[in-house]
Amino acid sequence: MHKVAHSGVTVHAGINIALVKYWGKVDSKQNLPAVGSVSLTLSEPGTTTTVRFDPALDEDVFELDGVTSVDPRVSALLDGVRQAASSTRRASVQSVNTVPTAAGLASSASGFAALGLAAWRAAQLPVHGPGSGFDLSPNANFDPRLLDLVRRGSGSAPRSLLGGFARLEAGTGALSAVRPDGEWDLRLVIGLTVAGPKPWSSRDGMDLSKETSPYYDAWVASHPADLDAACDAIRRRDLRALGEVMEHSTLKMHACMLATRPPLRYWASATLAALDVIDTLRRDGILVYATMDAGPHVKALCAAVDADRVREALSPVCRQVLVCQPGPGAVPGASL
Ligand code: PMV
Repeated sequence: MHKVAHSGVTVHAGINIALVKYWGKVDSKQNLPAVGSVSLTLSEPGTTTTVRFDPALDEDVFELDGVTSVDPRVSALLDGVRQAASSTRRASVQSVNTVPTAAGLASSASGFAALGLAAWRAAQLPVHGPGSGFDLSPNANFDPRLLDLVRRGSGSAPRSLLGGFARLEAGTGALSAVRPDGEWDLRLVIGLTVAGPKPWSSRDGMDLSKETSPYYDAWVASHPADLDAACDAIRRRDLRALGEVMEHSTLKMHACMLATRPPLRYWASATLAALDVIDTLRRDGILVYATMDAGPHVKALCAAVDADRVREALSPVCRQVLVCQPGPGAVPGASL
């Protein structure tokens, strides 16, 4: 029997934004992606989670932002960790999100990355290879069982384990880092447009697109070229090339969503207003590019020196604008 630690382990993970999007699964049960993706992990907003395996507990306890919660995906992840550690101990989980409340900005990626790594470490399982502790090299070769559990929680969550640019492979869910050739000081400026829950979860939306969108097959077939072009642009630090393929990927995904039955229209009028602002900035010579997820918000990628100008331009058409910088991935956090 593997010995499971009593003391808690705390991990912080930032959200990640896909530059080349993931939409669609080859296997819904295992949550395996039909297309690859490449993303940028941010330092904030994100999630800090403490996990303690406690022999005195009869059942798992999960507290999110100070409120006791029930989420079958959390219990499933903890069951997977217990199985890997040959343990029956229940866990107490405390999670705090720094994602603005009710913003409709997905926190499930940072949430499952932080939960997965904290639980894995709290059960004293090796994160990768021999050795212990948070020895996460930039190309950390995570234990595939950990990746599998995190991905089952949320398809985009493994990307938040890695800092900087992370690539997830179609079919297998394998994770790797994409390294620019030298320092690259970028910002993602997040324009929060309208509040409220999204009309369709990405999980349901993906299944619907696969079943009904006439553009789904074209989306999947044309995807690998975008992924390779984006990774190549990242390595060369070519913001124009990266921005162009990033916008193409998001618009193609939304075309596939719009052609779904019933239509998945995540955009609000403020989404279009924000896109107009970005077009205008670009006409003024600023290299800034937009991406949107399964929601109405607009995320703009630009060089750090242009971030204030982009924030000022987006502010009149957004409820709130966050200037976010690249982050280190899932790392030890201050205990909750
Ligand atoms: O992680 P999920 O299942 O919420 O899927 C995320 C899907 C998109 O945000 C629309 C795209 C992506 O690659 O993050």
